[in-house]
Amino acid sequence: MDELRPAILSPDHAGLARAASLLQRGELVAFPTETVYGLGADARSGRAVARIFAAKDRPSFNPLIVHVTDRKAAERHVRWNDTADRLATAFWPGPLTLVLPLKDGHGIASLVTAGLDTLAIRVPAHPAAQQLLRAFDGPLAAPSANPSGRISPTSAAHVLAGLDGRIAAILDDGPCAVGLESTIVGLSSDDPVLLRPGGLAVEQIEAVLGQPLLRRSEVSPLNAPGQISSHYAPAASVRLNAQMARPGELVLGFGPVVCDLNLSPTGDLAEAAANLFSHLHQLDARGQPIAVSPIPGHGLGAAINDRLSRAAACRDIV
Ligand code: TXA
Ligand code: MG
Repeated sequence: MDELRPAILSPDHAGLARAASLLQRGELVAFPTETVYGLGADARSGRAVARIFAAKDRPSFNPLIVHVTDRKAAERHVRWNDTADRLATAFWPGPLTLVLPLKDGHGIASLVTAGLDTLAIRVPAHPAAQQLLRAFDGPLAAPSANPSGRISPTSAAHVLAGLDGRIAAILDDGPCAVGLESTIVGLSSDDPVLLRPGGLAVEQIEAVLGQPLLRRSEVSPLNAPGQISSHYAPAASVRLNAQMARPGELVLGFGPVVCDLNLSPTGDLAEAAANLFSHLHQLDARGQPIAVSPIPGHGLGAAINDRLSRAAACRDIV
């Protein structure tokens, strides 16, 4: 792969046109979404998608999320159903990914789905992501734009720090508002399953469905290979539910506590979600162990605790 510095593009007419033309040529372009920055490639091109795995050093071919402009575009690739309809009406565009069966003539490169017969698909709300999808005029496969096993990027600077020399361009439109990856719901079997907690609270989804989501642990071996426990690890060690710092530890706080960085001094979970990855990036750069204050488990707290427990997990698993 060429050791080139990525072009840093603005989300204006010229920047979007350049980003779209790089993607059309099979290059990789990182772009902002409301959740985290994605590393985009043409989802119809196996050659382009292969570059994503190379740039991220993904140890195995985990399936990727495909991004499209709207529900109509999604219906070109997957077999739609009533539940998808209700969730898309309520939450698209937004931080929700649906996993649905691929339909005949779907046109998606098999590397995107790692050979599965389902596709993870979402409609991002971020204006620059929407404009890029329209300028590109096709589906974009995009995992989070970080090296495999590292913290997801919520700014262009995070992307550059992780992937400099490996991608063609970064579309820079400032920090991501939600700050956590999308919530993933599996709709390819009878009952909807929560495959990954994320930027849309599970309670909101269950309110629309009028039923609880099954949890992954309740379903037979599920196909979400990206869910290995060390997936969101910073380089430093992470200790959860810490009431006090031990000598040498940096404290990532929540609520009115003494700490090095605070996710939300007022205890606001949406603010904490938006700050989570950038605060972890900042503390990680200082090279000391990190202790994290207790964080409630409701609403976005479920996804925050999920990411933190992965960050704290043993790193022996690649
Ligand atoms: O917010 C997000 O979802 C971000 C932005 C860029 O859209 N993307 C993201 O992608 O987080 P990534 O690759 O880091 O995570 C995708 C997750 C992985 O855990 C993968 O295993 C799962 O989605 N996944 C993809 N396709 C799947 C499928 N067909 N069935 C089950 N899980 C799937
Ligand atoms: Mg990721």
